[in-house]
Amino acid sequence: MKIRKAVFPVAGLGTRFLPATKAVPKEMLPVVDRPLIQYAVDEAIEAGIETMVFVNGRGKAAIEDHFDMAYELERTQADRGKSVAALAGSRLTPGDAVFVRQQEPRGLGHAIWCARHVIGDEPFAIILPDEFMVGSPGCLKQMVDAYEQVGGNLICALEVPMAETPSYGVLDPGLRDGALTEVRGLVEKPKAGTAPSNLIVAGRYILQPEIMEYLATQEAGAGGEVQLTDSMAKLIGQQPFHGVTFAGERYDCGSKLGFAQANFALACRDAGMGDDLRSWAKTILKTAS
Ligand code: G1P
Repeated sequence: MKIRKAVFPVAGLGTRFLPATKAVPKEMLPVVDRPLIQYAVDEAIEAGIETMVFVNGRGKAAIEDHFDMAYELERTQADRGKSVAALAGSRLTPGDAVFVRQQEPRGLGHAIWCARHVIGDEPFAIILPDEFMVGSPGCLKQMVDAYEQVGGNLICALEVPMAETPSYGVLDPGLRDGALTEVRGLVEKPKAGTAPSNLIVAGRYILQPEIMEYLATQEAGAGGEVQLTDSMAKLIGQQPFHGVTFAGERYDCGSKLGFAQANFALACRDAGMGDDLRSWAKTILKTAS
């Protein structure tokens, strides 16, 4: 069955970026000139997704506005004879954007469960917008292609230094075949030195709808939150479950370092400013200490 719907959990408080995220959702922080959430939606569209399901929270209406028509802006630019080409892709077709609310911050698993009525009885994708993936084709498209071969459940699996594993969901890997790795187990935020591998769950998922049944009854796990990883672990053995190694670059834009790296990398490649930025960077690197 084709993957038609993607869930974007965007209700998080974004405390790591305060005060920038006091009044602005962290998903609206830009990498060069596009907010993180726009990259995530573009990635979904490229992968054939038709319905974008945003799990939103209080104080984050800017996300909804971003994908709406900006009537005053478009009208004013038109009156001035100016182009609105830069807005391309930021207005979703009516009916293609669905917003549901996560009323309490009870964790990623709870956020996904909040979308259950919109998802219904079909497999679906999840994109965590702060895991910023750059590739061609994009990360979700690579996963959808893999899904067409093996079906079941898929997660994007990427290697990180072992010391970083306590921050993530971690795979217990089985056999590897090209970009696909069998998933034998999953553990959320393992204690230092206990991770079964250095392969982490990197913010992209294709899951079967049965996940919602587990999420519905699930108790709090790591950090006192309802963890998606714990419910995924229960599907292992019942349905095929694979990790997909993404061929591309990953930036953890949930951290300030990853966010700065993403901006620098994309700005260096930007047609308008890349050359100037790279030569300026050589100078600043000599003097920075
Ligand atoms: C979430 C997931 C975790 C995953 C991570 C990717 O953690 O729970 O399994 O590895 O995203 O960034 P969070 O970043 O919300 O703590």
